[in-house]
Amino acid sequence: MWLPTLLKAIEGDMRTEGMVISAEDIYSLNQGSLKDAVVLFGGGCTAEVVSTQGLILTNHHCGHSFIQQHSSMEHNYLRDGFSAPTLADELPSPGLSATFIVRMEDVTDRMQAAFTMGMGETERGEAANKLGNEIAREVPPGPGVKAVVRPFNYGNSWYLIVSETFNDVRMVCAPPGDIGKFGGDTDNWMWPRHTGDFSMFRIYASPDNQPAAFSAANVPYTPKHSLPIAIDGAVPGEFAMIFGFPGRTQRYLPSVAVAQVMDVIDPLRIEMRTASLNVINAAMLENEQAKLQYASKQARIANGWKKWQGEVRGLKELDAVVVKQEQEREFAARAAGNPLYEAVPGELVRLYGEMLPYESARELFVELVYMGPEFLRFAQGYRKLIEEHAELRKENKLQGELDHLRTGAQGYFKNYIPEVDRKIFKAVLPVYRKHAQAGLAPGELTVLDKRHGNWDRYADAVFDKSIFTSPDRLYKALDHFSPSVAKRMAKDPAWRLVQALSNNYSEQVRPRLGVLSDSLDAAMRTWSGGLMELFPEKTWWPDANSTLRLSYGKVEGAEPRDGIIYKPFTTLEGVMEKYDPANPEFEVPQKLFNLYRAKDYGPYAHNGTMPVCFLSSLHTTGGNSGSPVLNGRGELIGLNFDRTWESTMSDILFDPAKCRNISVDIRYVLFIIDKYLGAKHLVEEMNLVSAGEELPHLIDLPLHR
Ligand code: ARG
Ligand code: ASP
Repeated sequence: MWLPTLLKAIEGDMRTEGMVISAEDIYSLNQGSLKDAVVLFGGGCTAEVVSTQGLILTNHHCGHSFIQQHSSMEHNYLRDGFSAPTLADELPSPGLSATFIVRMEDVTDRMQAAFTMGMGETERGEAANKLGNEIAREVPPGPGVKAVVRPFNYGNSWYLIVSETFNDVRMVCAPPGDIGKFGGDTDNWMWPRHTGDFSMFRIYASPDNQPAAFSAANVPYTPKHSLPIAIDGAVPGEFAMIFGFPGRTQRYLPSVAVAQVMDVIDPLRIEMRTASLNVINAAMLENEQAKLQYASKQARIANGWKKWQGEVRGLKELDAVVVKQEQEREFAARAAGNPLYEAVPGELVRLYGEMLPYESARELFVELVYMGPEFLRFAQGYRKLIEEHAELRKENKLQGELDHLRTGAQGYFKNYIPEVDRKIFKAVLPVYRKHAQAGLAPGELTVLDKRHGNWDRYADAVFDKSIFTSPDRLYKALDHFSPSVAKRMAKDPAWRLVQALSNNYSEQVRPRLGVLSDSLDAAMRTWSGGLMELFPEKTWWPDANSTLRLSYGKVEGAEPRDGIIYKPFTTLEGVMEKYDPANPEFEVPQKLFNLYRAKDYGPYAHNGTMPVCFLSSLHTTGGNSGSPVLNGRGELIGLNFDRTWESTMSDILFDPAKCRNISVDIRYVLFIIDKYLGAKHLVEEMNLVSAGEELPHLIDLPLHR
């Protein structure tokens, strides 16, 4: 996961592997380069610019919540797909943003001035903030421009990152769910894969091409670069690279921490989520309404749930703890007599050991309040009203707050079934209690109140009495809000429970966790710095941290386990093989079947068949979804959207022999847009290039047609 500013150093290697363009074509400060076609989509995905009019491609699962936002039982775009026939039909998507990286600059040397020997971690953090902000303030302001200085490698190096964010992003098209999410959770994290995981949006800018809040006067954004599309697709064995915003890797974890992930943290999260998922899956099978309402939530919960299972298995298969222990033994040998590094391995064991109960408590809290039943978190949103209503009234802000809460409640209840939430609460409660440690969980959840007799009855009592679990009760309270209603809200059992959980977390868990993770950061900084210094024969790159990275490899399959070969491509034949009318995850739209029967593939087929997904050996992680996968000429061959199950441990330990990322083939994307959605004009808006053509050098391509 290379930093794009450092590619000059590995340009030779990349060329040997088959890259045709130059490092300057990928990242340049002087002219439009590949980086100008890559955006951070919303908070956690990647998208790429594919036309001179701001058209961007990302995954269906990245656009999912926006597609859902625009969907209703009458216009069910999640189910049926969507395409805007004209610009005027493109759907504004409030809350969605697209961020470009303007430049990145290594400011490590300057930042060193902030630090002195023996500085405590808190002090160090404050000093880094202060100087970082000063450096960032040197960047001239502009619409949508943000400058931050961020640590890499636990603060061994620092980068200034200047970005530009657009907030008017509109939905252009999406395939039907049976294509965009084909295979659902059964196929998630798996190969062979047949998912058309893409959706399309457009960035809008002010008439002078600057970032601007949504306005009818805005126009399609003219990018500095847009990706050419390789109409011939990916070729097995060829050079490939991926450019995007990987979220988080933990490649420097010591053996003790890896063991904790495998034996404690992952199993705990899996168990909590299994409880919720059992309830949600059953509800979604039962009725169409629930299926629509819970689709996004279910996917969010199930995704991590399945990934962690693969991660535990993969780490076991790689003997990760032993591998790490060997590294630590070698480290100890090389560090012997070196006062800076000698003590670190022991220090890490001690710190991680102390941290575990607090880390577990944090996971439990997050899984219960943020991933479990929803009413707790919903109630939490009423803090201001409950605690500050008198002040709000004095300042004439009460009505505003009530209106704001009502709008929020309408959105919330749109996708909410009280009886489902009640069952989730009842299902996760025993798991929470089983793992909760006295003191690190609120008393209410460790000792049963005599009135209730058992935990189910306790859950019912909370649920039946709370106003936050019933739209009727809640709207009534908002309609007739008064100091006495506020008093009742303050006694509401859901409010009290979430208060107790939050207070317990912020008083008993977070402070200690903060102190320990400060010490841990310091130790990890020394540890990772030590690894780099003492093992110069190895290549080191900083862990992913949601900043722009590039990784390269090949379009290739794998032999992930004994007796199993993964071929690099799947085709539409495979979609038909998986078709199962009895299983909603494997339905095939009639229209797709007709196109298949008629072999009506337009110019997108290869040897008479329709490629769907492909594998490559690129190191990716969460956040890389939607990232462009490019060939050696910098042309788009696919959109990354997943990894195989045997790769999910790559966040901690990457194995080039096993780890493969999964992309949807760009030819399938074009085929669905053109032949299925009937939006040929969108394909025509893109710049399709053929390998047979004599291509001008990338940076000589006209950027603005
Ligand atoms: N596993 C992929 C990722 O982590 C895809 C998730 C969306 N797909 C799904 N079936 N839930 O984001
Ligand atoms: N599916 C992931 C994402 O959404 C990518 C991955 O974890 O491989 O970013």
